[in-house]
Amino acid sequence: MRTYIPLRLLYLGTTGILFTLCIICLNALGETNHPVQDAPLTDGGSMYTDFLAGDSLARRGWTLWRENACGACHDSNMQRDMTAPALAGVTTRWSAYPREDLYRWVQNSQRLLGSGHPRATELWAEWGPSVMSNYANLSDEDVAAILAFVETRARG
Ligand code: HEC
Repeated sequence: MRTYIPLRLLYLGTTGILFTLCIICLNALGETNHPVQDAPLTDGGSMYTDFLAGDSLARRGWTLWRENACGACHDSNMQRDMTAPALAGVTTRWSAYPREDLYRWVQNSQRLLGSGHPRATELWAEWGPSVMSNYANLSDEDVAAILAFVETRARG
């Protein structure tokens, strides 16, 4: 009988170690599943708002970004493709066209596409049939502010 006691202890010890490992793994999984894109959307004086300090246009853009839920489809850190493309470098991709074209895109992307705009056509070829929401409520100045936020955020 006695010889079985160390075996039982060994068994309990191994189970304990496995259990601990499981907890560590589950915690790690929890970390990766955390919605990173939501992080900069919380204000409360976190480090994420520091990059906006002193830039009132970008700060306004940040508010508009949240109010209009651009982050539902676009990564709010501007880096990853999600349902919609990552927006880092977007003004460079549109630099061959008047700045207003980008405003028209955000206000009504399908109308710009219908006019045969080359960049809109290119985007549609890659991302269609996912249609971006229309933002007729946003003025040119509003979109300019959002783009200022996008650029500042993309620089990190
Ligand atoms: C319902 C999802 C959705 C929402 C919400 C959304 N977009 Fe988009 N956006 C897209 C998709 C999809 C594309 C790619 C083109 C296409 O398929 O229409 C795109 C493309 C773009 C582009 C062009 C990107 C490039 O590389 O040229 C810009 C700029 C843009 N979106 C800005 C915005 C802004 C600003 C908002 C918020 C005001 C917003 N989007 C909200 C889905 C969305």
